[in-house]
Amino acid sequence: MAAELHNKENTLVMRKRLIGQSCRLFFSHDPIKILKARGQYLYDENGMEYLDCISNVHHVGHCHPDVTEAAASQMELLNTNTRFLHDNIVTYAARLSATLPDKICVFYFVNSGSEANDLALRLARQYTQNEDIIVLEHAYHGHLTSLIDISPYKFKKLGGQKEWVHVAPLPDTYRGMYREDHPNPAQAYADTLKSVIDQVQSKGRKIAAFFAESLPSVGGQIILPHGYCTKVAEYIRAAGGVYVADEVQTGFGRVGSHFWAFQMQGEDFCPDIVTMGKPMGNGHPLACVATTEDVAGAFTSNGVEYFNTFGGNPVSCAVGLAVLDVIEKEDLRGNATRVGRHLKELLEQLQKKHSIIGEVRGVGLFLGFEMVKDKTERTPATLEAAHLVQKLKDERICVSTDGPWESVIKFKPPMCFSMEDAERVAKAIDQILTEWSKDEIQQSFNEDHLINTS
Ligand SMILES: Cc1ncc(COP(=O)(O)O)c(C=O)c1O
Repeated sequence: MAAELHNKENTLVMRKRLIGQSCRLFFSHDPIKILKARGQYLYDENGMEYLDCISNVHHVGHCHPDVTEAAASQMELLNTNTRFLHDNIVTYAARLSATLPDKICVFYFVNSGSEANDLALRLARQYTQNEDIIVLEHAYHGHLTSLIDISPYKFKKLGGQKEWVHVAPLPDTYRGMYREDHPNPAQAYADTLKSVIDQVQSKGRKIAAFFAESLPSVGGQIILPHGYCTKVAEYIRAAGGVYVADEVQTGFGRVGSHFWAFQMQGEDFCPDIVTMGKPMGNGHPLACVATTEDVAGAFTSNGVEYFNTFGGNPVSCAVGLAVLDVIEKEDLRGNATRVGRHLKELLEQLQKKHSIIGEVRGVGLFLGFEMVKDKTERTPATLEAAHLVQKLKDERICVSTDGPWESVIKFKPPMCFSMEDAERVAKAIDQILTEWSKDEIQQSFNEDHLINTS
């Protein structure tokens, strides 16, 4: 076990004193100090093992030896910026290109999902010469000023909505305006977006882009109805805008069946811009914007050079290549499909047994379940969800919540998550839900403990 520099208590004291308090910790009332991690397991200062259902960034498993080795050997040899010619960046771009539709063939490497979305915003505006952006309710696209502006999840708590930002209803067939009994929710929700476009245009404004996660995660692990994206892309393009697919959380095979979550919408759908990040470097800061030749051409033609000091450096690209190799070599997409299906089935069995589980949804290793106070009204069971997270932590299983009411328990574990892990999680949830009492929930929680962990 790695040595500690400070004991846990002192680490916490120093963190409170030295680190901005808006940078919140997981399990903030009793944080875990992690010294080491392997695969899907985390180890605290006492060598105690935790099962990690949270770390979607550590996509191929924490500290995967192939990734570590790729980073270390490239670091020993050379790390320059992208103004020198190097094999890694072009090899990596070619590998990514092979996973995307032919049309998406130009790449810009950056360091975070936020940078990727900020650049996507610039590309969209330069290409369309328009300004306005449409996003989905409760969306989160990053922490830069430009992205707080297009993230209702954040701007609702801050200064409010900018005049160039427009919010369309979240196509949530469990809680939204059109639900599972609607004959065509994809068309119905696309029509709501069309109404937003009409309103924007009636004010004389022009749309630059629609930004959406291919599976809205902060929105509560939502699966967009099949056909929604195709229709929306049609409406957005007719209005002069482009479709930006935010794959920062959902890309790189998390859904199992496809490499990119937008591909679940069918072959007739292709975004104009794809942004990616989190899992790309398995923890190394690596992110990217991919787009069409036309969009990239417009960005070039403004005559302003785009330079990013760290983005796409030889070490980052070596890491990215190693991640792609591991996904293939260990068939992690196949694993996500099999283990995800098994976990979903186990959770569906629990849904039949425990009335507090309102809906189980998701695909591959992007799963979640809604906790509700009653199944008819679907009243979010926010405190109960927080309580379950706490109880699972006591069982050394790390999960977190999401959704507008923090009532969705989400699972986005490293892709090496196993059948046994899935069974352990389901068994623990079953036991906790069978044994808990309402009093216990009220006593042990207050609102301070609720934390979003996108
Ligand atoms: C969907 C989505 N887009 C963008 C971002 C921003 O990525 P980063 O934190 O790497 O800047 C996040 C981060 O949580 C995200 O969930």
